[in-house]
Amino acid sequence: MDRVLSGMQSSGKVHLGNLVGALQNWVKLQEKYDCYYFVADWHALTTGYANPAALHDSVIDLLVNYIAAGLDPDKCTIFLQSRILEHAELHLLLSMITPVGWLERVPTYKEKQQELQDRDLSNYGFLGYPLLQTADIIIYRAKYVPVGVDQVPHLEISREIARRFNNFYGEVFPEPDALLTQFPKVPGVDGRKMSKSYGNAIYLSDSPKEVEQKIRTMTTDPARVKRTDKGDPELSPVFQLHKVFSTKEEQAEVAEGCRTAGIGCIDCKKVLIKNVFTMLEPIWQKRAELLNNPDQLHAIVDKGNDKARKVAQETMQLVRKAMGLY
Ligand code: TRP
Repeated sequence: MDRVLSGMQSSGKVHLGNLVGALQNWVKLQEKYDCYYFVADWHALTTGYANPAALHDSVIDLLVNYIAAGLDPDKCTIFLQSRILEHAELHLLLSMITPVGWLERVPTYKEKQQELQDRDLSNYGFLGYPLLQTADIIIYRAKYVPVGVDQVPHLEISREIARRFNNFYGEVFPEPDALLTQFPKVPGVDGRKMSKSYGNAIYLSDSPKEVEQKIRTMTTDPARVKRTDKGDPELSPVFQLHKVFSTKEEQAEVAEGCRTAGIGCIDCKKVLIKNVFTMLEPIWQKRAELLNNPDQLHAIVDKGNDKARKVAQETMQLVRKAMGLY
């Protein structure tokens, strides 16, 4: 079975965009591949080093949500990056052969610095972000890495570094391929892309009340002021969410009702709330179960860590030997 590896950085809570865009795809892949899924807590430190308390909470949130979303510890390996010290060793060794210019030219380097202007990102670890990600991937000699398009530059440099290593020291690493997933863009409650930095996200950790409240207070077509005004569904963020969460029939119904003023915005939102609840209910249930039983969660992650560590240690033996170390 080919190996798949992916991870999320633990710097914030998991939202519906992450669920539909990544986690649900990971869940499918665990049926067909030897999947390794981890929480990138060291990566979170590259930008979040000044706020360890927030980091701690989001590690738990992520692990709980991985499992609540359907990752099955009997089918895939779930682990925590910082418990597999071999990632750090490989990162160090790869740093010997990685030209600094390669890292400076990764587009996300400058983009993130622009985006997070309130933070000091002149730190060495932040420059090395894609190198650490490379170590995460190739230490498992993974063939496929399911990621969104935003991660393509990171995959590209991972391939280049694997190739450079192999050129110097012989074939140790396969070049990993991105497994780009076609998934619907999930807009936030204000119509922009769902993102924690926009404050427009619906989180898996939100209570049913909070989810309902967030959807009920969404803006709709601004031209639809009165109940009797006709609207254009395409101008309503609510309809954009229907495209992700509602059936084709429901979409047609609410669109028609909007255009003719046959239904009000609250009626339209009620359908959406029902569908989002249907997706979230099993997740809420599983989350509660895990949060009430931390021992169960720890046992799952300990087991995943042990399994991941074994693979990582095997690779590191090859790497040390290839590089002339003992
Ligand atoms: N950069 C990824 C993100 O933004 C997280 C990540 C770290 C990752 N290492 C990885 C993803 C290895 C895939 C493979 O969430």
